[in-house]
Amino acid sequence: MARINENYQKLQAGYLFPEIGRRVKAFQESNPDAPVIRLGIGDVTLPLAPAVVEALHAAADEMGTSEGFRGYGPEAGAEDFLLDAILEHDFASRGVTLERSELFVSDGSKQDSGNIQEIFGQDCSIAVTDPVYPVYVDTNVMAGRTGLADDDGRYGGITYLPANADNGFMPGPPSQRVDLAYLCSPNNPTGAVASRENLTEWVAWARANQAVLIFDAAYDAFIQDPALPRSIYEIEGAKECAIEMRSFSKRAGFTGVRCAYTAVPKALMGSTAAGEAVSLNALWGRRHSTKFNGVPYVIQRAAAAAFSPDGRKQCAEQVAYYMANAAHIREALGAAGFSCFGGEHAPYVWVQTPDGRSSWDCFDHFLQGAHVVCTPGSGFGAAGEGYIRISSFNSRENVQEATHRLTLL
Ligand code: MLT
Repeated sequence: MARINENYQKLQAGYLFPEIGRRVKAFQESNPDAPVIRLGIGDVTLPLAPAVVEALHAAADEMGTSEGFRGYGPEAGAEDFLLDAILEHDFASRGVTLERSELFVSDGSKQDSGNIQEIFGQDCSIAVTDPVYPVYVDTNVMAGRTGLADDDGRYGGITYLPANADNGFMPGPPSQRVDLAYLCSPNNPTGAVASRENLTEWVAWARANQAVLIFDAAYDAFIQDPALPRSIYEIEGAKECAIEMRSFSKRAGFTGVRCAYTAVPKALMGSTAAGEAVSLNALWGRRHSTKFNGVPYVIQRAAAAAFSPDGRKQCAEQVAYYMANAAHIREALGAAGFSCFGGEHAPYVWVQTPDGRSSWDCFDHFLQGAHVVCTPGSGFGAAGEGYIRISSFNSRENVQEATHRLTLL
């Protein structure tokens, strides 16, 4: 028999969202008439923006002509029209200059944030905030960079930085050196957002420690205050120490369409065991072109359409719709005595469980008592215990009905 990668056996339970799906399915099988409202996984519910749909149609028609047909895309997979739209609207508009060759378009930030660890050494040390998007941790476990999990689910060898109400759910850098630190702002799951001061502290720490920051900005479009940084490259010196990920999933409703990108500046270097500096842009480019043939042309056209004047307006309206849901969740649950955090610059509200319940106990209580699906905070890490995450991705009617039911519990 072929030997397996035994690191997989260190993984705790299943991946969080399939586990929630299994529990909800079991509940629905025994309660087929229960009107379940899903505020668990952060999956968009509004239809694609008209500008995006129009671009999809036009690109499909183009592919059906001999002049417009395309096979494989360019070597790195991304079309210049999309790269230029990203550079203009996501970076130049915020005073950040990057080059086309510093962007890598992919089919999702989940994949990119999971795969990025491949270009780093096996013995690299890792820091994550806790709670954390599980992909960052699980992929390092699979790659063998950790020990076993303890009773709280914390893996040996990972530095966990607790995110709590005392630090505004945005911890600063660790006191010791690590090679890679994963940051996410606006944060999944806590809904907190990093201030300029917080990111400046992280960048200074990374530069002083020759560490690399992996900055996941998949939810940047939900930031309401224009003074808050959307890109880590708005912080001076970040191009020498940070990789950034962005996604069209939440800001343009692409969870089922799939498009994202990762920025790896050319100024960012890693080193060999012998101390020779090596470009991380070159390594990620090598990996990308070896393992990926690019996002389909029609999808790249659709993503670019999200940056057109109509696309920007329509996508901004969708974000505003979800943010109004988040405001409603905070207000309704807050008025009913729940302690709520986040939800002001992010589509997630982080709620302390009532009556000292554990996260999973509260999940079951909400599901059985109110037929509302949330996400247990402990599924994101030990420091998430005692919290649940409520997603604002649903219709206004469902969100209002769900909060109403929860306040009656
Ligand atoms: C979430 O609910 O945390 C996200 O939708 C999961 C994801 O983006 O992979």
